[in-house]
Amino acid sequence: MDDAHLPDSILIVDFGSQVTQLIARRVREAGVYSEIAPFSQAEEAFHRLKPKGVILSGSPAGVPEDGSPRAPEMLFEAGIPILGICYGQQVMSHQLGGEVRPGHETGEGGEFGRAFLTVTKDCALFDGLWQVGERHQVWMSHGDKVTKFAPGFEIVAISDGAPFAVIADEERKFYGTQFHPEVVHTPDGGKLIANFVRHVCGLAGEWTMAAYRETKVREIREQVGDGKVICGLSGGVDSSVAAILIHEAIGDKLTCVFVDHGLLRLNEREQVETMFRDHYNIPLVVVDAEDMFMSGLEGVTDPEAKRKFIGKTFIDVFEAEAKAVGGADFLAQGTLYPDVIESVSFTGGPSVTIKSHHNVGGLPERMNMQLVEPLRELFKDEVRELGRELGLPDMFVGRHPFPGPGLAIRIPGEVTKERCDILRKADAIYLDEIRKAGLYDAIWQAFAVLLPVKTVGVMGDYRTYDSVCGLRAVTSTDGMTADVYPFDAAFLTGVATRIVNEVQGINRVVYDYTSKPPGTIEWE
Ligand code: XMP
Repeated sequence: MDDAHLPDSILIVDFGSQVTQLIARRVREAGVYSEIAPFSQAEEAFHRLKPKGVILSGSPAGVPEDGSPRAPEMLFEAGIPILGICYGQQVMSHQLGGEVRPGHETGEGGEFGRAFLTVTKDCALFDGLWQVGERHQVWMSHGDKVTKFAPGFEIVAISDGAPFAVIADEERKFYGTQFHPEVVHTPDGGKLIANFVRHVCGLAGEWTMAAYRETKVREIREQVGDGKVICGLSGGVDSSVAAILIHEAIGDKLTCVFVDHGLLRLNEREQVETMFRDHYNIPLVVVDAEDMFMSGLEGVTDPEAKRKFIGKTFIDVFEAEAKAVGGADFLAQGTLYPDVIESVSFTGGPSVTIKSHHNVGGLPERMNMQLVEPLRELFKDEVRELGRELGLPDMFVGRHPFPGPGLAIRIPGEVTKERCDILRKADAIYLDEIRKAGLYDAIWQAFAVLLPVKTVGVMGDYRTYDSVCGLRAVTSTDGMTADVYPFDAAFLTGVATRIVNEVQGINRVVYDYTSKPPGTIEWE
């Protein structure tokens, strides 16, 4: 992006807090663009973004610990406002000449959870929101605390456990909160952050999806030039929104490829064809690869072997189609911001592979293509908003996530066309009932699973011996952790009755009560 097109922004320096992404959310809700950079890359991000303000995040580390992270000194000399949150407040105090001590040394311990602070002085952060003498609920989570503040600062709010609950240097426009304004348990937190970005940093709050769409269309045109782009459509929200945006930018220089691997949900292929060809008039190649996938899956029961086979075959098919349409210079992907943010680890060491996720990674190098990823800066719900902005119907925009390997990882044991057909029917009934009950949008993901277990039943005067179907429904914000959706018993009984009555091959239905962790969302 050249400077003229840089949006007014806030740089969030990440010290590894679990909730750093929430800071970005709150800033964007205030209508201001923000990006997160790990503390080690904050200086480079500062020069690239030219932000109008900086927010320093919390951290699992403690300022007094050896080797704990620091903010680049240049940020304090850049002449722009800074808000330090929790660790951010402490590290700023420390770096500017104050003192931070571990809770156990001060003899006061830490403060965790709900706390109340009292406003002792007016401050730009509180403008139009908090008055002197008022008490307000906030969310604390700290062991260490600032024991001496840096020159220039003064206390503007106190709490029982944090004498420096909020500190301010109005001259330099540096502020520090010991509590976390970004979490929902600080009820006025979003407004405090909005005050910081709007009143203190002077930003107008004009960052909207319409503006994002315009900027991206221009950027895609610049990036692609006369080249050709190919986009793998999964039918999911992310790749669909990416494709429609790119099509708006470069028209028929984009070709979409949809691989029907026979592991799709009921009518999914038809829905994608109608949407892209008829509604948006986007060049779409649909590849019927069901036989290839089904024959390759014969006898495969190990979950990782299934995933690897499907991932590899998908790339083979996609590559062949890309060549058939005359090759492409760019590959479009619906990569989202949470996939891009580098997580900051203080413990080191690689994380364990729980599942090999299937995507089209590996293709760009193999085919010598560059990536076009117009959603890289967005969170999932922002992608949905952009989808609506682009005219995608709500029904499509709000769809539950669906994994790349499709139904194969919802059929433990061997995957066959017959078992896929059975599962498709049960799944469609389950989702139909969820929609009819008005629960679809309250659930992150709901689906049926076909188990490799047969049980005895009785229907009319007949003995049956058929498969068990599992039902799963979870709530989540990012798929990383999940809670079980608490349907009432009558709802589940109704779904079970319909499935057993209407789907031949299933005679028993069970509900999965496992959260994540310890379970994963998909069964394989
Ligand atoms: P798990 O089962 O790991 O799933 O708890 C977390 C989220 O990721 C989805 N998922 C996938 N998505 N390719 C994808 O694009 C995959 O291989 C894949 N495996 C799981 C899953 O549906 C859930 O939303």
